[in-house]
Amino acid sequence: MSLSQQFNDHLLPLSGDSSLSTPAFVYDESAVINKLELLVKAKEQSGCHILYSVKALSFSALLDIISDYVDGFSVSSLFECNLAREMLGEKGSIHVTSPGLRDEDIPHIAKISNYMSFNSQSQWQRCKKFVGDLNCGLRVNPELSFVEDDRFNPCRGYSKLGIPLSQLAYLREQHSETFAGINGIHIHNNCESENFQELGETINKVKDVMGDFVSRLKWINVGGGYLFSDMAQLDMLCSIVTELKQQNGQDVFFEPGKGIVNSAGYLIATVIDLFDSGGKTVAVLDTTVNHLPEVFEYQYKPVVMQECRNGEYEYQLVGASCLSGDLFGDYCFADELQPGNRIIFANVGAYMLVKANMFNGINLPTIYSLDSSNKLHLQKEYDYAQYRNKW
Ligand SMILES: Cc1ncc(COP(=O)(O)O)c(C=O)c1O
Repeated sequence: MSLSQQFNDHLLPLSGDSSLSTPAFVYDESAVINKLELLVKAKEQSGCHILYSVKALSFSALLDIISDYVDGFSVSSLFECNLAREMLGEKGSIHVTSPGLRDEDIPHIAKISNYMSFNSQSQWQRCKKFVGDLNCGLRVNPELSFVEDDRFNPCRGYSKLGIPLSQLAYLREQHSETFAGINGIHIHNNCESENFQELGETINKVKDVMGDFVSRLKWINVGGGYLFSDMAQLDMLCSIVTELKQQNGQDVFFEPGKGIVNSAGYLIATVIDLFDSGGKTVAVLDTTVNHLPEVFEYQYKPVVMQECRNGEYEYQLVGASCLSGDLFGDYCFADELQPGNRIIFANVGAYMLVKANMFNGINLPTIYSLDSSNKLHLQKEYDYAQYRNKW
């Protein structure tokens, strides 16, 4: 479904719904389920295992829905691991990788999770005495970048994420004892890519450098970092997985986050003031970039659903905090904005709500789910007590 169709069918009615209190974060359950159903098809076609990367959006009611479609969750911290186990019960596996595991947390994490990809040789050597029944692997940095912005590039120079492939090859030659007890590798190296050919290139590079080390592994976790909207895109993933399975019979795990939840998330705000500043009309919203922190962190301009590129009325949409850079950007509209109008930001499901904060005492958005019959359900409201008690 196109963004404008989605807007007309699902969201436009909401923008006039007076029972919805703004700022509101709305997640569309059907949009998440559509993505999950595509992944289930890919799993049926190729035999890959599907995990959800909890860090993208860890709202528990949503995890509950996702858990019915996936083989498990991928996590990177003690709290994510606890949450994943609580949500999955005994029904799925938990896969852990993090550059920052504390020694004192490892025994507990090892007890409640199933797979761990150690981020460095020293992390593996230090922690292996705690691993018990865990299925252990190494996170490998394939030293192959597809991401231009180094802030998102797991293979940037001097990367902290994984053992560089060239170093792994040296270890295999000189210190093969390092690999005793290692069953798998984790090779996440992408971000927001729509091209699964890049995954194919990554796997080929790892196979070329590591040879039969790869064929002897029991599993490969290919990470996340890919966006997809139809089966045609996932076909390439399926053929890569099918080839790996035919060659070596390995288990292959795919663990997207943003690909599953991003297009399902909306932030709805209300215009609370309008005034002229140096010739531009400023429209102040009852939200802030701190509800969409990646807008500020990465200077990214979010999609506004009512935007009309050739619209006659141009506004600078700004947040309600005192920070001068609390700005969403300049947008044109077909109609003049009035106080009370609602603005809908789209494609904000991943890495936004999980990073949102109450800076300047501005309350967090109220969270709603939108069910398949277009009914809104209030999921969570924040209040002054949470602001007061945070510190
Ligand atoms: C190890 C690992 N796996 C999976 C993901 C999920 O990536 P995405 O949300 O881009 O699909 C990340 C994101 O940082 C990651 O670090």
